[in-house]
Amino acid sequence: MLSTPSLRTSEAATTPTNPASSIMPATVPIHPRIRTLEDYHTAYRRSVEEPDAYWAELAEPFTWRKKWTQVRGGQFSPEGTATWFEGAKLNITENCLDRHLATRGNKLAIIWEPNDPKERHLRLTYRELHQEVCKFANVLHNLGVEKGDRVCLYMPMIPSLAIAVLACARIGAIHSVIFAGFSATAIADRVNDAQATFVVTTDGLNRGAKQIPVKRVVDEALEHCPSVRKVLVIEHLGWPVNMHEGRDVWYHEEAKDAGKSCPAEEMDAEDPLFILYTSGSTGKPKGVVHSTAGYMVWTDYTFRNVFQVEENDVYWCTADIGWVTGHSYLLYGPLLAGATTLMFEGVPTYPDAGRFWQVCDKHSVSVFYTAPTAIRSLMAAPLDNVLSYSLDSLRVLGSVGEPINDEAWYWYFQHVGKERCPVVDTWWQTETGGIMISALAGITPSKPAHAGLPLPGVQPVLLTQEGQEIEGNDQEGYLAIKAPWPGVIRTTYGDHERARQTYFQPYPGYYFTGDGARRDENGLYRIIGRVDDVINVSGHRFGTAEIENAINQNPHVVESAVVGYPHDVKGQGIYAYVICRTGDVDTEADRHHVEASIIETVVAEIGKIARPDKIQIVSGLPKTRSGKIMRRILRKVAEGETSSLGDTTTLLDPAVVDEIISGKK
Ligand code: WTA
Repeated sequence: MLSTPSLRTSEAATTPTNPASSIMPATVPIHPRIRTLEDYHTAYRRSVEEPDAYWAELAEPFTWRKKWTQVRGGQFSPEGTATWFEGAKLNITENCLDRHLATRGNKLAIIWEPNDPKERHLRLTYRELHQEVCKFANVLHNLGVEKGDRVCLYMPMIPSLAIAVLACARIGAIHSVIFAGFSATAIADRVNDAQATFVVTTDGLNRGAKQIPVKRVVDEALEHCPSVRKVLVIEHLGWPVNMHEGRDVWYHEEAKDAGKSCPAEEMDAEDPLFILYTSGSTGKPKGVVHSTAGYMVWTDYTFRNVFQVEENDVYWCTADIGWVTGHSYLLYGPLLAGATTLMFEGVPTYPDAGRFWQVCDKHSVSVFYTAPTAIRSLMAAPLDNVLSYSLDSLRVLGSVGEPINDEAWYWYFQHVGKERCPVVDTWWQTETGGIMISALAGITPSKPAHAGLPLPGVQPVLLTQEGQEIEGNDQEGYLAIKAPWPGVIRTTYGDHERARQTYFQPYPGYYFTGDGARRDENGLYRIIGRVDDVINVSGHRFGTAEIENAINQNPHVVESAVVGYPHDVKGQGIYAYVICRTGDVDTEADRHHVEASIIETVVAEIGKIARPDKIQIVSGLPKTRSGKIMRRILRKVAEGETSSLGDTTTLLDPAVVDEIISGKK
């Protein structure tokens, strides 16, 4: 394996084996602001009563080329959101890297663990990471990437991905990372929406026992992407690839003469830092845009406080950088704080279900952050897989992405955390930039299946469907946020109207989350799940309309309706009701063929992660007289709750429901 060619020299031999031993005393050690419950209440009160003073104080220690003229500009309105630190000039990479060089230059910034435990891991100090980012930034510059250009990255979880992201930020290009499990069509949709001019990719990737020819997928996508001028290819597996004359270049060739220093581009506080595509309840995925200064302050603050990170911690977030969790809590948050962040190329179950725990022991991981779906899949394996590791180094455990059920919470707490480590269940969204509601490890209450109390700066409310605030505890409603926090989404790329309609218009004066929540008798929040047509499959968001659109591309399909249903490992599974063309599904064999063909279509349109778990071929869908599909009924059938279907008298053809119930998978 030729992981990250330019890094081949910076292997473990040049850096100490114990990450903590390489730490030089830092003048400003990582310190969470909040250390006690009383601190929390004081901070919370200040964040509400004097937000400007509160956030100005928190922003102070960063490196600013020029200070802000205004801390917070505006409130939520149906038009959109506030600005933060307007007038300030900065570059986020100076804060992630340069700022640490004097005191943490020899501290490990990134530990990279490969897919295959037999391969060598890599370690990069802050100084080495700084050099690699500068070199990569120079390569991008030399190829013509300029401030404001959109660069899409479609890559495996290798150090080059982290370096490429930071290199974009260094020169003011807007990065848009596309999770490397998406299909060529999904890549093309994103590249075209962002009007990206550059793409960074690799020859191939490892995922467990599989190897995937990534460059080939990109080539297929780019046949439909006229905006792309150059593709930068990083050698990872050493596979031969097709290089498109005049368009494709190898990173290792371009990097030969690239300098090791690169001045950071001066950015405005509100300049976009990145675009990240995420699914909504309608249409195609939208490009969530985050700003530079607000996102920086928010990810740093939430990272330090939620995980109570200390200087010697080895912190591991298992999320892929293709998702927001990887952006905020694998990369930006930890590096802004000067922490050591672990990056893992593989999957939890390869070569066996003990892999996560083996990595924890190997690198003395002290803070571990993962998703309930991973926990549930590991719970299903024999307990020996976890009990055979000591896990002594662990101090804090985190969960993110979907509701964590009681059983998974207790398993995690007992067998991984040995009843010693607080569990922080962190609720947030791509749009919120960082964690919003969560326990602060060991400080504020941690209750199974509850995210807990809001972070300072976050003012959650429960609304009725009509938009009335629901007062008091022991209540349930639509979750909305009352006042802007620094990390809030600024717009949806190229289509502000969409952001307006989705987040700011439904309940004027609030940011609408799309989630339902319950506030318990002590004011702790429990997230119930989406109240819109978004489903959460293994912590990945999909719009039901997005999957229906994909299914409808199949030539056998006339119409489809997709709903989520409870799934033991994935949290929610994808249940598709499909009407097929007359004559296409007459026999059992035809049905098998058509179902397989539908799955193939979804994989081609979106990717394997959106494969329907169940497909039920039906002759009709429950529609009202005005032609609207009654998803409530389809959801109930998929959940197996056919005795409580509610009122079906408004249906055009109630008999359809009986047919659907009798044919349920
Ligand atoms: C859900 C992931 C319950 C929620 C960071 C939200 C959660 C959506 C939790 C955002 C949690 C995320 N408990 N539900 N701790 N965290 N969610 O944009 O429905 O991929 O709206 O961001 O995931 O998903 P996204």
